[in-house]
Amino acid sequence: MSLRAPKGTDDILPPESRHWRRLLRLWDDLVERYGYELVMTPIFELTEVFARGVGEATEVVEKQMYTFADKGGRSLTLRPESTAGVVRAYIQGGRSGVFKGAYSGPMFRYEQPQQGRRRQFWQLGVEYIGEEAVEADLEVIEVGYRYTTDAGLADVVVQVNSIGDPPDRAAYLMVLTDFLEAIHGDLSDDAASRIATNPLRVLDSKADAEVLVDAPVPTDHLSSETRAHFDALLAGLERREIPYELAPRLVRGLDYYNRTVFEYVPAGYDAAQSAVGGGGRYDGLSELLGGPHLPSTGLALGLDRILVALGDGVSEPPLDAFVVVTAPARRAVAWQLVGSLRDSGLRVDAVASERSVKAQFRAANRRDAAAVVVVGDEWDSGNVVVKVLATGQETTVAVQHLAAQLEQT
Ligand code: HAM
Repeated sequence: MSLRAPKGTDDILPPESRHWRRLLRLWDDLVERYGYELVMTPIFELTEVFARGVGEATEVVEKQMYTFADKGGRSLTLRPESTAGVVRAYIQGGRSGVFKGAYSGPMFRYEQPQQGRRRQFWQLGVEYIGEEAVEADLEVIEVGYRYTTDAGLADVVVQVNSIGDPPDRAAYLMVLTDFLEAIHGDLSDDAASRIATNPLRVLDSKADAEVLVDAPVPTDHLSSETRAHFDALLAGLERREIPYELAPRLVRGLDYYNRTVFEYVPAGYDAAQSAVGGGGRYDGLSELLGGPHLPSTGLALGLDRILVALGDGVSEPPLDAFVVVTAPARRAVAWQLVGSLRDSGLRVDAVASERSVKAQFRAANRRDAAAVVVVGDEWDSGNVVVKVLATGQETTVAVQHLAAQLEQT
């Protein structure tokens, strides 16, 4: 039997990969405009980075990590997310002050695979490190909203909540635990087992939604300072005209958050995993990793899920032109033409070997070129024939006007 890719992973080939290329470029352009610099951290980290950063009692650390011992006996883990690694890199690099970093790359979680839930998946993220102002939270929320909207998702709504600071949460968790213990018998086994280890996570258990309707929520237990921060966040979202919904039960699956948490949900997207991205504030993460106090906020979007939500849209042709040559004697000039069109910024290709005109046209069609440029007898009078493949329309074009003409096709 031939070998297959591991379960929950994907090969991204054309034509699907054309959508990926467009969306990866869109991301790089957008975050650069917002002043985020590229940050690249290892795909594997010491397991402790995630155990301490993401939290021992989270589903990600408990059940989903790809952890292995290397030949030196170190426990390493394929990154299930990037926030902990980026903060680790900031601390290790001896940085101070504000740092705005953006990344794009594969993450790994051992999950039950389904559409939009993969074992290797791609995140696009930003981390705004060293800034406590609510404007930083607003900016990262805006980056994710702009990106999903520019990518083509309609009616994305940002679900927002505040889970307070640790002192708010300590008071809240006591009230929540009392409530959960009282309804213990009605909870699913999974939720019931979490009361002692991570009661906050019980709150957004989808399986227990009905019995949790009357559960106390974090926003009822905010201090005046965290309340003011949340109110300023909501006012800022209004000002920036970012559509949001209050999500009092949203707590997110990673332990490092405080205050702001949010997720992006496109309207009408009802796959089991509805959030195409999420994030929040994590003022305490640096200290968990042995660094200084470092108020920070960030977000990550799931590219696989964005693509599922977008559906199979028509992609742009990957080539502006495919050069076809009618006589072997003109192959050298045809390749020169390919070179000069590429120099002028066009996406151009041709068949490498000597083939019939028919075979070259077949190749042009297979490659989904927008147009074929025929180097034939007209060449001697300085012209080529351009055939637009979508319409079949043919025109004779002077070689010196060819690049301009193809740009308009
Ligand atoms: P997260 O919510 O765990 O947050 O992941 C962010 C996004 O990654 C999700 O909304 C989803 O779109 C995508 N995602 C997660 N797991 C999978 C999967 N198995 N298959 C496909 N897509 C998936 C974080 O990872 C945080 N680091 C976000 C953050 C950055 N918070 C602050 N800064």
